[in-house]
Amino acid sequence: MNAPLYNELIAYSNSKLAFHMPGHKFGSIADLNKLNLSSLDNTEAMGLDNLYEAEGIIKEAMLLMADFYGAMDSVFLTNGSTAGVITSILATCNEGDELIVARNSHHSVWSALVLGGIRPIYISPEYVAKDDILGEITPETVRRAFKAYPRAKGIIIVSPTYEGIVSDIKAIAEVVHEYDKVLIVDEAHGAHFVLGNCFPISSTRLGADLVINSMHKTLPALTQSALIHICSHRISYEKIIETLRMVQTSSPSYMMMGLMDYIRCYILEHHVLIKKQYVDELVHMRERLKELRMLRLVDRALQAYDISKVVISTANANISGYQLATILNKEYSIVVEAALETYVILMTTMADTRETLHRLEQALKYIDSCLQYTPVYESINSFLNNEVVVGESTRSIHYSEKKWEVLDKCDGKKSAKNIMLYPPGIPIVCIGEVIQAKHIYMIRRFKNKLQGIKVVDNEILLHIV
Ligand SMILES: Cc1ncc(COP(=O)(O)O)c(C=O)c1O
Repeated sequence: MNAPLYNELIAYSNSKLAFHMPGHKFGSIADLNKLNLSSLDNTEAMGLDNLYEAEGIIKEAMLLMADFYGAMDSVFLTNGSTAGVITSILATCNEGDELIVARNSHHSVWSALVLGGIRPIYISPEYVAKDDILGEITPETVRRAFKAYPRAKGIIIVSPTYEGIVSDIKAIAEVVHEYDKVLIVDEAHGAHFVLGNCFPISSTRLGADLVINSMHKTLPALTQSALIHICSHRISYEKIIETLRMVQTSSPSYMMMGLMDYIRCYILEHHVLIKKQYVDELVHMRERLKELRMLRLVDRALQAYDISKVVISTANANISGYQLATILNKEYSIVVEAALETYVILMTTMADTRETLHRLEQALKYIDSCLQYTPVYESINSFLNNEVVVGESTRSIHYSEKKWEVLDKCDGKKSAKNIMLYPPGIPIVCIGEVIQAKHIYMIRRFKNKLQGIKVVDNEILLHIV
């Protein structure tokens, strides 16, 4: 068959051990491979309800989902958390409003700022130098931001982060509600928190007003399946639906919605089995991975960390995260979720079992036994600050004339891109921020770890207005 994409996908699924999204891992859980998915692929036919005017079986399924997550209402998303983040922001803010935005937010936040003409007030998460990853957003930082910018309509933060760090949502919600504002939690990576008390409690139960989950990332749903949970009366269900309709397809996939409903039910009926086959095995594997000598398992206290993410630090080994990922792939057919300079992220889900986790553990242990110690890498601690900064209207930047300019000529110019430092995954300059001498110094110094710049003939170029 001359179908290169199709052929490669089939070959990949037959040969690789995926520690990446989507969470169903080639349908290896919940009898997914036995389901007749095409019979679920339907439309707003008579009796099948309508997502945007739900009052029948879709509404019933969404209310069961809300109950499952501890929300007042839940809404199916079929364009991923991206649609949920944009909807939440546009439903919370009017044009010209201010919104407090964690700098480590997903790209979709900046899309919403452009679409809504909303002005960001940036706050930064902590930085965990030991692991070279971003930490939590603290309640103190949130308080500082609202004190300085009391007109802001609300705040959006990411918890858990890609690496699994969870912020103290309960304490943050108390601060946000003291100021009578809206707390939006981008919990795209935390849909599986409903799997039991080995995982942190979902923000839906901790006082957030709106929470977004990608079911396809950490639960066995089809890619783009996600949820938005409405957890208070601050933003109404009607407002969310009205806004969602503007940003999401008019033909939401029944196959995705039907499967989300199915997976909720599957988890409820099989939670004991899931705990035994996946969660307990994961906990045991993590215990054993603490014995690694040169590689190191990133870990935290239970409510502050999502143990499903197996983040392996290479910071003290004579190998980079990229090299570790390559060895895992080439020698063990194990594919990581993400590789960075000083660590790799491996995603486990309820589709994993003793067998898959054992293969991962054995591979990591063998690689570790061949490695040598290297002195600690350079921490970027001194380059990050924790100021609350007012950002430029990203809409005006979006519609401005832009050009690529050599780094030395960028002092005082506005950046048209987020210039991201990976790791730990935070913009050193956000869209619309004025590039200063200190940024130019950092860009030159960390050029190999940056996204959002171009390097042509050894010359660094920035996209500026
Ligand atoms: C923190 C965060 N939020 C939102 C999203 C968007 O999720 P989706 O791919 O479901 O649209 C992502 C995707 O990677 C993410 O990492």
